[in-house]
Amino acid sequence: MSAHAVNLYLVGFMGTGKSTVGRLLARQLGMQFLDSDHEIERTAGKPVARIFAEDGEPRFRAMEREFIERGHPVQGVIVACGGGLVVPPGMLELLHGRGIVICLHAPIETILQRTMHTTHRPLLQVEDPEARLRELYAQREEIYRRTGTMVLTDKRPMREIAAHVLRVYRLEAAHFRK
Ligand code: S3P
Repeated sequence: MSAHAVNLYLVGFMGTGKSTVGRLLARQLGMQFLDSDHEIERTAGKPVARIFAEDGEPRFRAMEREFIERGHPVQGVIVACGGGLVVPPGMLELLHGRGIVICLHAPIETILQRTMHTTHRPLLQVEDPEARLRELYAQREEIYRRTGTMVLTDKRPMREIAAHVLRVYRLEAAHFRK
């Protein structure tokens, strides 16, 4: 049954908890969980930071598109999408054609706290990561708002966030037509 469930795509800025929520829900629903960054790393045979450094960001974005177009099962999966995956034109439409899209949201201050001391995100390996984050957040906020239902992840227990995402997913999946 769950192997035939409509796909769920979790989108949103870095550090909003897409992978944590996705993994939890996949376990609850008996669905497969995939993280777009990890799948791309597996295909490329190197970490995202090296793809950015050696092949450039446009190549990474092309790999994200390939993964969504033909690199994952058409049903039964929950995908945690890298933060920039929905940004290039056409990506959001692609996702909407394939399943339910839910955006996890958190205020910039929370994102800063969650990401400032991590080292695996190439976009933040700059002299002033805070300024970079604020700039990206401002550039993308509009795009994330257009993705669909937004679920606030700030100052809420994980199980509550997951339950909220599940309610939205079930409601929207009931009306989903490919
Ligand atoms: C990116 C977010 C990252 C990863 C890459 C680029 C972005 O994913 O895909 O570093 O452009 O926002 P997470 O959202 O899982 O950190």
